[in-house]
Amino acid sequence: MKARIIPIVRTVRATLPPGRDLVAPPEGALVDLRGRRVRDLRISVTDRCNFRCVYCMPKEVFGDDYAFLPRSKLLSFEEIVRVARVFVDQGVEKIRITGGEPLLRKHIENLIEQLAKLPVELTLTTNGSLLRKKARALKDAGLHRVTVSLDGIDDAAFKRMNDVDYAVGDVLDGIEAAAEVGLAPIKINCVVKRGSNDDQILPLARHFRHSRHILRFIEYMDVGSSNGWCMDEVLPSADVVARIGQEFPLEAIDANYPGEVAERWRYTDGGGEVGVISSVTQAFCSSCTRIRLSTEGQLYTCLFAQSGHDLRALLRHGNGDEALRREIAAVWRGRDDRYSEIRTAATSLPGGKIEMSYIGG
Ligand code: GTP
Ligand code: 5AD
Ligand code: SF4
Ligand code: SF4
Repeated sequence: MKARIIPIVRTVRATLPPGRDLVAPPEGALVDLRGRRVRDLRISVTDRCNFRCVYCMPKEVFGDDYAFLPRSKLLSFEEIVRVARVFVDQGVEKIRITGGEPLLRKHIENLIEQLAKLPVELTLTTNGSLLRKKARALKDAGLHRVTVSLDGIDDAAFKRMNDVDYAVGDVLDGIEAAAEVGLAPIKINCVVKRGSNDDQILPLARHFRHSRHILRFIEYMDVGSSNGWCMDEVLPSADVVARIGQEFPLEAIDANYPGEVAERWRYTDGGGEVGVISSVTQAFCSSCTRIRLSTEGQLYTCLFAQSGHDLRALLRHGNGDEALRREIAAVWRGRDDRYSEIRTAATSLPGGKIEMSYIGG
């Protein structure tokens, strides 16, 4: 039987005028200049990683002599928890731990244990290499679920992307370990770089159908200043959906919550769900509720911000929670970012952007 090609139905993510956001803020909530509330806090706990993914930490830039942050500059777990608590009081409902590779931070489960006491959804993004070792401790500490980055399913293709010769089998085993302890639903994120790993789309889709894990394909973005991004290397999500849809019929499904970055699709034969994140071709800034805390305590209101707000100085100069609360409120209320909506193909901001391994994925 000839496979049915599903027409690509696009959700409209129009730019709304300031004050008319897709994410209606509750009464009295902190809102920015575009009417968006703060809902998700992403915390980077290390700028280090044991992978050198070509789109994130290319070896030419992040070589043996690269100066990562010294320990004294990192926020301590106590400092992170203090900031998180103030954010939760200001409306944050979801916390994601990122990096670099967050499982490289020593005793990360101790941080998870503290954050798990807050009334939030607590998640973590990892490259999976340490998951087999850490899954049980993370679950016991109170982590709800994990998202694993995986840019290929064939060993050679995966190694080409991570650029440190890391075998795909070990990440798949880490995913298995996370599933065994119930860190679910597990999301699998694949950044698609046209000409590098787009041949992995179908093999990945075949592998994760019927697995209960949610595979998502992400458009390659121009984050940071070191990956040499160009528009030609972006494969639009529409093409990803068309390629998968040719082999396995798909139908669009509703977002889980307003402002979800992934567009969701379902295999019509019951094979589960697959998603696409179209950060380049269909920007989602108008519903962006995310704020980022960097490894050294800078607060960034956008993934593409050129400068942050120094919370570490505030924390280390004896300020109380009220001062922290006022600073956070002022930063969010002054927020006007919408980089992905105004990006041009020749994107390059003078002064350079912050690397994703530093600000968090
Ligand atoms: P869940 O729905 O909770 O699983 O998380 P999520 O949908 O927010 O996805 P996740 O945190 O795994 O983010 C996936 C990818 O989307 C990131 O690695 C980025 O590539 C991209 N992304 C996430 N947030 C932003 C954002 O604020 N701006 C842009 N431009 N891209 C983002
Ligand atoms: N484009 C898109 N996503 C990226 N990530 C890192 N760099 C990029 C980029 N240039 C995201 C990926 C990865 C996570 C840690 O950060 O989702 O899985
Ligand atoms: Fe490390 Fe993730 Fe960046 Fe790859 S994408 S280099 S695994 S932080
Ligand atoms: Fe949010 Fe900035 Fe990403 Fe737009 S580009 S979705 S404002 S983080």
